[in-house]
Order: sequence, then structure tokens, then C-alpha cells
Amino acid sequence: MQSKHTPTVLLVDDNKEFLDVTEKILREITGYNVLTLADGRETIQVATTQKPDVIVLDVYMPGRDGPDICRQLKGTQELDNIPVLLLTGGGNDAQFRARCLEDGADDFLMKPADSDELIARVNVLLRIKALQDELRRERDELEEKVQARARELEKTETLAAIGKMVAGVAHEIRNPLGAISNSAAVLSRDLILEGEDHKLMDIIVQESNRLRDTITDFLTFAHPPPYNFTLVNLRELVEDVILLAGQDTLCGDEVVFQADIEDYLPEIEIDRDRIHQVLWNLIRNALEATGERGEIAIRVFTQLLNRKNGVVIQIVDDGSGIPDEDVEHIFAPFFTRKAKGSGLGLSMVQSAVKAHCGTVRVQNDDTGGAVFKVWLPVRQG
Ligand SMILES: Nc1ncnc2c1ncn2[C@@H]1O[C@H](COP(=O)(O)OP(=O)(O)O)[C@@H](O)[C@H]1O
Ligand SMILES: [Mg+2]
Repeated sequence: MQSKHTPTVLLVDDNKEFLDVTEKILREITGYNVLTLADGRETIQVATTQKPDVIVLDVYMPGRDGPDICRQLKGTQELDNIPVLLLTGGGNDAQFRARCLEDGADDFLMKPADSDELIARVNVLLRIKALQDELRRERDELEEKVQARARELEKTETLAAIGKMVAGVAHEIRNPLGAISNSAAVLSRDLILEGEDHKLMDIIVQESNRLRDTITDFLTFAHPPPYNFTLVNLRELVEDVILLAGQDTLCGDEVVFQADIEDYLPEIEIDRDRIHQVLWNLIRNALEATGERGEIAIRVFTQLLNRKNGVVIQIVDDGSGIPDEDVEHIFAPFFTRKAKGSGLGLSMVQSAVKAHCGTVRVQNDDTGGAVFKVWLPVRQG
């Protein structure tokens, strides 16, 4: 409610003497702003520009009388919330007053009006108006919220429909693309190509691999398959991913992998495919960060976390590292600094690790590269 607002009262009466006296009394006793009009014809115009909080109207005035003005006020959208107090002469009967109420008057006062009663009635109308205004504000706010939600919903539904369609298309593309990518890799290994042809074959392999990874990331994001936990030998899994990474077209000729895997690692309960994808995403990012030459160190060791047995997989590269302002955003879906990045790799890593009740942390190494540390519990549940 408006607590500091000083109410404005518009007094309309062709009796100049009454106007002057009433204005003085209202102003001095209540401290309200008082506007006066000796001619009913200007009431609508003044009400529109000044927006008074109450209008006190004489019933009989030359030109336009009170009930007539009242009807117009109540029929005008931006003025219909202003309460009207009609000042009637002694000769007006109950029937007349009833008609005025139907025309929209909010209250009556018999002339000659007692100043205390006039003030009391004006105050009642002010209280009602304040409440009504508050209600209207709340209603408008609510309406705005409902409309905003409806717009959001519409957008979400459209996006969901587009997402579903894209996922369908991606699904259709995945298998033939996998076949293309594998065949290209075999051809590239077996064919003896020279010069330009060799370069072209590299492009086919590289681009089909990139597309395959993007589609896999997208499908895992849009339609994550259910998790399937089994006991897995982590050493084998990590070595597998490193071997694949070394053969990938992303891997520069002078990139070195350093693997330091603790002996006697326990078998760990994970979804093998998902953790394979997690490691691949982290190593892929490391490869992209190091470029043609660099070192990627992978350490795997057991570590207790909150008294729970777990295993850490740490991947350190000597690339450019992650700018401080990016650190809090890199796990968000679609965040990427790469011209052809999907921004889905780390979001996949985070949700998969979370589904394993694990943690993933990132920091920059003293030498400048990035350090990703994934902790996974040995047992689920
Ligand atoms: N090892 C890293 N070194 C430097 N920056 C990284 C590394 N890993 C991730 N990032 C940053 O995080 C962003 C998001 O990574 P990711 O979710 O895998 O998406 P994408 O690889 O498609 O960009 C990358 O664009 C990059 O800016
Ligand atoms: Mg990535």
C-alpha cells in the first residue's frame, strides 16, 4: 500500500463560497491536496490529468450535473477507480439516491455538509480506494506473471518439439556415421596415399570423428540412456581410453601421455560406457588444449572421501588452462570457447559423475594447464 502518498481530493461545486470553505477545512485538518472546480464540465479533463484519489461532486450544477459526470467517470477505464462522493440537496429522495448509486456514485452526503462527517466519509473512500488499488496492482502483477509463464511454456514446448526432432535426426545419423568413420580409419591405415590425397583422407577421418563425438554428446544430453552399473577394472578402462586417444586424429604427433595408475586398484562399480565417455571427453579437451605438442598426465589412485572408499582419476594437461572467469561456467550445457565446440562435453561429465555419486573438480596447474579431478566411489549405494 502507498504509505507516504498524500491523497488528492477534487471538489466540484458551483457554489464558490462552499468551495472555498470546504477546501480550507479539508486542507487544514487533513493536510490533503485539494483541487477545486466551480464548473462540472471540466471534471473529466481535470480527473484525467490530476488523477485525484476522491472526487466530491455537487449533484446540481449548471451545464453538467453530478450524476451525469459520475456515469462518465465510471465508464472510463482509467478513471473508474476514483470514488465519487455526491453532495445532494435536501429535496432528493431515496429513489433519486438509488439511481445515483446505480450510476456509480460511491457515497452521499446531504448539504449543508458537516465538515467532520465530510472528512470521515472522504477518509472511508480513500481507504477503499487504497485497498482496491492494491488489489488491482496484485491482479495486474498476477496477470503479467500468468502471461509470462504462458509465453515461457509455449517457448519450452516449441523447444521440446525441436529437440525431439533433432534427436530423431541425430539418432538416424549416428550409425551410418559410425560406419563411415570406422571405414575411413581402416582405409587411411591400409591405403598408401601420397601428398594431397593423404591430407584429404585425414580430413575425412578427422571430421567424421568430430561429428561422431558431437552426436554422441548431443544424444547423451538429450536422451540419456539408463545407467547400467557393473564391476569394472578401471586400469583396463583407462588404458583403453588412452590407447584410443593416441590413435585419434585429434592427437598431435608430439603429444605424450603419461599414465600413472596405482597397483592393486579395487574393481569399481560403474557404468562402463558412461565413464569411458567421461574420460574420453576430458582427454579430448586436454588434446584440444595442448595442440600439436604437449604432455597429458593421467593419474589413477585410491582416495577416501567422507570416509567412503573411492578412486580418483586426474587428468593434467600443459595447455593454455582455463581463464578464471570461465571456471564457473565450463560445466554448463552449451558453454564453449571453441569455434566448432558443442559445449556438451563437460556437462555430460558432470551429470555422469553425479549419477555415480562422485565429484568432479577443476583447477589450473602451477604450470598453467588444466587439472580435472574425478572422484568415484568404489561401490554405489
Ligand atoms: N583441458 C582444458 N583446457 C582448457 N580449457 C578447457 C579444458 N577443458 C575444458 N575447457 C574449457 O571448457 C569449455 C567447455 O568444454 P566442453 O564442455 O568439453 O565443450 P567443448 O569442448 O565442445 O567446448 C571449452 O570450450 C574450454 O573453453
Ligand atoms: Mg569438449
